[in-house]
Amino acid sequence: MQTAPIKPIKPWFQTVPEIGPHLRWNEFFGNDLPVELDIGCGRGLFLFNAAVTTPDTNFVGLEIDYREGRRTATRLMKQNLPNARVIGGDGTSVLASMIEPGTVQAAHVYFPDPWWKKRHRKRRIFNFEFTHLLARILKPGGFVHHWTDVADYFEMVRGLMDDHADFEICPPPPERDADHDMDYHTSFERKKRKLGLPIYRALWRRR
Ligand SMILES: C[S@@+](CC[C@H](N)C(=O)[O-])C[C@H]1O[C@@H](n2cnc3c(N)ncnc32)[C@H](O)[C@@H]1O
Repeated sequence: MQTAPIKPIKPWFQTVPEIGPHLRWNEFFGNDLPVELDIGCGRGLFLFNAAVTTPDTNFVGLEIDYREGRRTATRLMKQNLPNARVIGGDGTSVLASMIEPGTVQAAHVYFPDPWWKKRHRKRRIFNFEFTHLLARILKPGGFVHHWTDVADYFEMVRGLMDDHADFEICPPPPERDADHDMDYHTSFERKKRKLGLPIYRALWRRR
C-alpha cells in the first residue's frame, strides 16, 4: 500500500529537535525584524492575520500539538508568508532555554488550556515560573497580551502579573463587534463569543 508523502512544510513548521538548542532570530528569519510569539497558537487565526497585516514584524507560533501546528503552518505556507512560522514543541522549554534573553517584542497567550479539574490545575501553562520566563525573553517595553474566558484562571494570572516587579499594567483593548464570521482575534475567541461567554483581556508592559 502506498502512503501519501508528507509535504515539506519547512521552514513554516519546524520542531524543537530540528532547530536545536538555540534560537537566533536573525538566523531563523534571515532578517532583524522584531519578533512576536503566539504561545499555544492552535489553529493560528491570530498568527495568520497578524502576519498579513503587520509585514514588518516576524510572528512565531509555539504549539505542542504537532498536528495542529502543521495544519497552521500549511496555511502560512500556502500564502507563502515570509514573516510567520510555527515551532512544534513545548512553549515553556522554548522560552526557558532556546530564546536569547531580551529578544522578543511581544508574547501573546490566548485561551490557554484551562485544565478544569482541580488536580490538573498544576498543568496550566501560565503560572509563577512562566511569568519569569516572559520577563526573561521580552525586550524592555515589550508586551504580554493575555485573553481567556476562564474567570478563575484570569484572576490567578492577574494576581501574578499585576504584582510582578518586571511588569506594569496597561489598559487592555476593548471588545469590538465582529464584521464577519471569521473576524475574531483567535479561533477560541470566536468559539467562546459565539457561546455568549464573557472574554477577559489583559495587557502588561515589560519595564
Ligand atoms: C485552548 S487552545 C487555544 C488556541 C489559540 N490560542 C486560540 O485562542 O484559539 C490552547 C492551545 O495551546 C496548546 N498548548 C498547550 N500547552 C502548550 C505548551 N506547553 N506549549 C505550546 N503549546 C501548548 C494546545 O495544544 C492548544 O493548541
